Amino acid sequence: MNTLDRIATVFSEKFSSQPLLVQGCGRINIIGEHTDYNEGFVLPASINKYIYFAIAENGTNECHFHALDIDDSYQFSLNNIQRSEKGWANYLMGILDQLQQEDILLEGVDVVFGGNLPIGSGMSSSAALEAGFALGICSLFNLQKSRQELAQLAHRSSNNFLGVPSGIMDQFASLLGQRGHAIKLDCRSLQYEYVPLDLGEYELLLINTGVSHALANSAYKDRVRECHEGAAAVGRKYKGVESLRDVSLAQLEDCRSDMTDIVFRRCQYVIEENERLHQALSLLTNGKMEELGALLLRTHEGLSKEYEVSCRELDFLVELAKDHKGVAGARMMGGGFGGCTLNLVKTEAREDFLKYAKKEYYRAFSVQAEHYELEIVDGTDIVREQ
Ligand code: GLA
Repeated sequence: MNTLDRIATVFSEKFSSQPLLVQGCGRINIIGEHTDYNEGFVLPASINKYIYFAIAENGTNECHFHALDIDDSYQFSLNNIQRSEKGWANYLMGILDQLQQEDILLEGVDVVFGGNLPIGSGMSSSAALEAGFALGICSLFNLQKSRQELAQLAHRSSNNFLGVPSGIMDQFASLLGQRGHAIKLDCRSLQYEYVPLDLGEYELLLINTGVSHALANSAYKDRVRECHEGAAAVGRKYKGVESLRDVSLAQLEDCRSDMTDIVFRRCQYVIEENERLHQALSLLTNGKMEELGALLLRTHEGLSKEYEVSCRELDFLVELAKDHKGVAGARMMGGGFGGCTLNLVKTEAREDFLKYAKKEYYRAFSVQAEHYELEIVDGTDIVREQ
């Protein structure tokens, strides 16, 4: 039985109604890391890793959530939505909380969910949870909201309810992804365009360090604060600077003595990463995969040395990719401190590279690394109406 059927079956064992079925997508990001909360650009795509939901309204004020993969449940009243000790439940409650903030009154829902999107792997299982649930609720109660509005709502939930000062990339990618395409998203204006992901003889491959990151941890918040500090320092000298998006490398250099060395390096990385994204786009459209790979390596170097969000395991996997002639480039992906590397690999070299990387990784860390071959798919969607 596949996961979706299992979820529908468990739902019917626990509750009597006929549920709506939704799949929430994970995402990758080609380039543009830690740029979203600096109002910069990102290039994500939604992937065939899902969290599936069965959801139905229950005519009461109570909500019942069941997380199938960890066999855990949570129940609460809509009159009293508060952050709970169960981290997973907060992602769903945050969506309901945001709707209440808009004075949208709902009735209670019964929910069963689970999937094949590994948690803490940098593929944004959190956005899949938020996006899938938000779209499900929207459809169930016939709320007139566009996908973009739902992404904004889920993003506000992350910021306000969960207290994670993240950008909008993950929720946007999960809800607006398009098969075979990446999304070039301007995180300031939310203007976006679809970019075909034609990789020629190459493909994208994820390798999981197995090290699990905690996004809400202090390091992510520190980076956000450091970037804001740097932008504010430049803004004191140059008019019209609202975020690092508005700052050039020359301006940053000019304000070097107005900030700590650490803040300077964080800002330098972000400004360069935005520039790299534009270069990457032109390489992608011209089919220059080797050069695109080299850019990914430069991003990794920046994330590791200047931004300091990598870890030994990620650096190690990227070094292995560098060593292998079938790999154009690789980098850590997502918030950092664990999760996956994104590898741009020649299809004909895939098996050889995987064998090599897994063997060396095991030798170094005694961990059997998992890998994921990716399909770029349409974003979060309703699988079956109620
Ligand atoms: C996490 C956040 C995103 C983004 C990335 C880093 O995935 O949720 O908003 O900041 O880290 O690019």
